[in-house]
Amino acid sequence: KKVAFIASEGVPFIKTGGLADVVGSLPKCFNKDEFDVRVILPKYMCMKQEFKDQLQYVTHFYMDLNWRSQYVGVLQIEYDGILFYFIDNEYYLAGPKPYGNIFEDIEKFAFFSKAALSALPVIGFQPDIIHCHDWQTGLVPVYLKDRFHDGEFYRNMKSVITIHNLKFQGVWDIKTVQDVTGLPKYYFSPDKLEAYGDANYLKGGIVYADAITTVSETYAEEIKQPFYGEHLDGLMRARANSLRGIVNGIDYNEYNPETDTYIAQQYNARNFRKEKVKNKIALQQELGLEVDPGKMMIGMVSRLTDQKGFDLIAYIMDELCQDNVQLVILGTGEERYENMFRHYDWKYNGKVSAQIYYSEPMSHKVYASSDAFLMPSLFEPCGLSQLMSLRYGTVPIVRETGGLKDTVEPYNEFGNSGTGFSFTNYNAHEMLSIIRYAENIYYNKKREWNKIIDRGMAKDFSWNNSAKKYEELYRWLE
Ligand code: ADP
Ligand code: GLC
Repeated sequence: KKVAFIASEGVPFIKTGGLADVVGSLPKCFNKDEFDVRVILPKYMCMKQEFKDQLQYVTHFYMDLNWRSQYVGVLQIEYDGILFYFIDNEYYLAGPKPYGNIFEDIEKFAFFSKAALSALPVIGFQPDIIHCHDWQTGLVPVYLKDRFHDGEFYRNMKSVITIHNLKFQGVWDIKTVQDVTGLPKYYFSPDKLEAYGDANYLKGGIVYADAITTVSETYAEEIKQPFYGEHLDGLMRARANSLRGIVNGIDYNEYNPETDTYIAQQYNARNFRKEKVKNKIALQQELGLEVDPGKMMIGMVSRLTDQKGFDLIAYIMDELCQDNVQLVILGTGEERYENMFRHYDWKYNGKVSAQIYYSEPMSHKVYASSDAFLMPSLFEPCGLSQLMSLRYGTVPIVRETGGLKDTVEPYNEFGNSGTGFSFTNYNAHEMLSIIRYAENIYYNKKREWNKIIDRGMAKDFSWNNSAKKYEELYRWLE
C-alpha cells in the first residue's frame, strides 16, 4: 500500500510544535514490507540551510489556482529511509517563519494543498491513502473530491485527516477563500466548508475525509463536547463513526537518555538513581541557579500560550517560589508570559530560570535534568513533552485532559502504582496542592519517588503500538 503524508511541518526540516515531531517520526515506523509512505512538505525559504542545500530537483509544472497560474517546483530528499518531497514556490513560501498572518496562510495553504495533490501524477506516485494533518492541509480532502471527475488517477484514493489541534481551523471570509482556492460556490454551504458565516478549512477536511483521527482517545471524546469542541462539536458528533483517537508516540532514538549527546551525563533505567542528578548539577551551573543536587527542579518546555495552562502558573508563581524548589522554563510565545517569566527570573534569582528562546539541545537538557515536569494544560490533544519526560525519568505533573490523561497514570501511594501526578479541575490551587504533594514525596519518600520513575521509564511510548493502529485504519479504508 502506498501512503502520502501531506503536512505543513516535519522534523528535522522544519518545526514549530508537536505536529512536526509526528510527521517526521511516524512514517518510518510503518511496516516497510506492506507500506510505502512518503511525505510532502512545503519548501519554506526559512527551512534549515543544511537541508535546503541537500534537496534534489525533481521537476516543475504550472498549476491553475482560480484565475492564477502558479509555478510548482518539486524537490526531494531521502532521509532515514523515507522519501520526502518538497513543494516549491517562492512567492508563497518566502516568509521568515513557516506561518505568517492568517490572510497570508489562507492563500499559502490553498496553494500547497492543491499543489501537493497535483504533483502526484507528475512524480508518478499514486497513493492508496492520502493522510493530511491539521487545518493547513484541510483542503486536501476537498480538492481530492473535486478531482474525482477528472479521470482515473485520483478516483480510488482515500483520505484521512488527523486533528492535532482543533483550536486552529483556518477561518476567513467566503469571498476571499473562493478567490484563493478556486473552489466552486456550492462548496461554501453549511454542510461543507461554511461555518458561522465564514469559510473553514479544517471543517472542509473533516467533512470530506474518509476517516478522521485525533491524537489521543480522550481528546477524541472531548471534542464531541462544547467545552473542547471549538464550535465544531456538533460536526464531531455527526462524524463520530469515522473518528478515532490514536495516541502519539515519540522517536525513541532521538529521545534516549542513554545515547543523547546534548546532555552532560547519559543514563538509563538501571542507573538513573546515581547518574541522572549530574545533569541537574550541570544545568544549575549553566543557568546560574543555586547548585544543590538535592533541590527539586521543576522543568517546563512549551509554547507559552493559554492552551498550556500558564494562567494557572501565573496565579500561584509567588506562592510556589516560597517552596524549596527550582523552576526552569524554556519556551517562547505570548509576550505576557515571556515577560512574566523574565520577571520571576529577576525576582527569584538563582531559583527561577527563564530561557525565552527555542533550542533543541536546551530542551533535552531540561528533560534530562529536571526532577518533575509541569504541564497543566487547559486542553491537550496529545502532548509530547510529558512523553519525553517519562522517557528521561522526569516525573510529569499534569492536568487530566486529552493525551495527558491517557499517558500519565496518577501516583497512588496505597496501590504502589502511577507514573506521575495529576489534578482534575482547571484551578490554580488544585494545581499547587498537587505540586506540593509531589514535593512531599520527593523530599520525604525518596524510594517511592524513584519507584515512580522506574514505572515511567518502563512504559513504551515509542511509535510501535500506534503505528500499528494507523496501519489497521489504512487497511480498513481499502
Ligand atoms: P504542542 O505541539 O502543542 O506545542 P507538544 O507537547 O505536542 O505540544 O510538542 C511540543 C514540542 O515542541 C516538543 O517536542 C517540545 O520539546 C518542543 N518545544 C516546545 N517549546 C520548545 C522550545 N522553546 N525549545 C525547544 N523545543 C521546544
Ligand atoms: C498539537 C497539540 C499537541 C500534540 C501535537 C502533535 O500541537 O497541541 O497536544 O501533541 O499537536 O500531535
